[in-house]
Amino acid sequence: PWWAVIPTSILPGVVLKACSFSSAEISLLPTGHRCISQAAAKIDVDFDYDGPLMKTEVPGPRSRELMKQLNGIQNAEAVHFFCNYEESRGNYLVDVDGNRMLDLYSQISSIPIGYSHPSLIKLLQQPQNLSTFINRPALGILPPENFAERLKESLLSVAPKGLSQVVTMSCGSCSNENAFKAIFMWYRNKERGHNNVTKEELESCMINQPPGCPDYAMLSFMGGFHGRTMGCLATTHSKAIHKLDIPSLDWPIAPFPRLKYPLEDFVKENQQEEARCLEEVEDLIVKYRKKKKIVAGIIVEPIQSEGGDNHASDDFFRKLRDIARKHGCAFLVDEVQTGGGCTGKFWAHEHWGLDDPADVVTFSKKMMTGGFFHKEEFRPNAPYRIFNTWLGDPSKNLMLAEVIKVIKREDLLNNATHAGKALLTGLLDLQARYPHLISRARGRGTFCSFDTPNDATRNKLITIARNKGVVLGGCGDRSIRFRPTLIFKDHHAHLFLNIFSDILANFK
Ligand SMILES: Cc1ncc(COP(=O)(O)O)c(C=O)c1O
Repeated sequence: PWWAVIPTSILPGVVLKACSFSSAEISLLPTGHRCISQAAAKIDVDFDYDGPLMKTEVPGPRSRELMKQLNGIQNAEAVHFFCNYEESRGNYLVDVDGNRMLDLYSQISSIPIGYSHPSLIKLLQQPQNLSTFINRPALGILPPENFAERLKESLLSVAPKGLSQVVTMSCGSCSNENAFKAIFMWYRNKERGHNNVTKEELESCMINQPPGCPDYAMLSFMGGFHGRTMGCLATTHSKAIHKLDIPSLDWPIAPFPRLKYPLEDFVKENQQEEARCLEEVEDLIVKYRKKKKIVAGIIVEPIQSEGGDNHASDDFFRKLRDIARKHGCAFLVDEVQTGGGCTGKFWAHEHWGLDDPADVVTFSKKMMTGGFFHKEEFRPNAPYRIFNTWLGDPSKNLMLAEVIKVIKREDLLNNATHAGKALLTGLLDLQARYPHLISRARGRGTFCSFDTPNDATRNKLITIARNKGVVLGGCGDRSIRFRPTLIFKDHHAHLFLNIFSDILANFK
């Protein structure tokens, strides 16, 4: 019988809840999981814990010791605490001091289906998958036999509308960096038409000069974040600390709408604000063209994340998309943080309801591998033009295929909508009760956030919440953002809201 394979040692605090793992999967769960049966072949089990369990303040003594050790080797000042990933499960992150916290930040929004998901454990234990994890190939020259098939099962099964091509990369910055390159090559080839590359181009590019290195630009938005590599950094405008001391490019930067909340009370003002920003986009394209700098592409996040969870209306993005088309600029949608289902749709840009939403879409984080989707016309015209040694990692595609199966099987996009509603409703209620501490509560799916009065209050709230067993993230200069996993459910939202309500009631 199925229960024979389930460990009998039951840890306190492990909860029983509806879910759907096969008995084979359950046998792979780490010890400490409780299970109950469902009528038919499926078995109810939840590998999640039932709540936070705090033993020390965070960081605790062991974390502090390890921080000191690491700081001797590198600047480790950004480290929050050290983790025990073996014990972390579902929505709960366990630290090295034995504290178990409800994780609403999920490794900067990059854990799709929770820690130690049984389906992924099973995948890793299958002998036929071992070689994919051991032998990391230089994918651009020596891919494994099943590589194209795996891409179809994983990335292409969720490809954004109209984007049939995909290239994998190792991180979000690397994805944007290469997407820029693909856009510039596309633009130059358009200009070149049927003419061959000239000797002058080949020679001048070797010394970073035009015409070989044309004066093209990507237009980006104030408050945007697209990564920390040199090219990406020229389009990142969230915090000065990312950019300080790094030479950059004279590329146009447009204002991003600053919406007033509640949205229903400021319809006209917000429309005007969006119109102002769109007008500025067009003006910049024209102004730069006059300077002989051509805006080859526009990059935008569907929700500016690191920059403070700044939203704009679907209508703003539809109009922006039109502007890009009108001026012959490629439209690059950076879904590194918004992609993978947390907004309730697989891609946040799907909310815009467009038939032709983007020319290029970059991804990473919850997608496990970085990379970008693009239209066929953005294919490089020669090998090695978009290239690096690894070009991602096939083991990540294998895991992503499984993650996508779980998302479908467990209806996790609808779950994100539902759980997100529970979270936002609760935040709006807290905002009404504590307007001096919480404002501008906003969100799509579980991609929610609110503002605090200032940076100091925000940081204090995050620290208190962590010591009460909830990991939250900050963004912008005063916002708190929610980036839970896709298995964050209504009851997790209520659990958080109860804890946070107490924190606010006692906040001094
Ligand atoms: C929207 C967006 N683009 C790009 C990046 C850069 O990704 P990575 O940190 O993997 O280089 C991030 C990272 O937070 C991001 O949020």
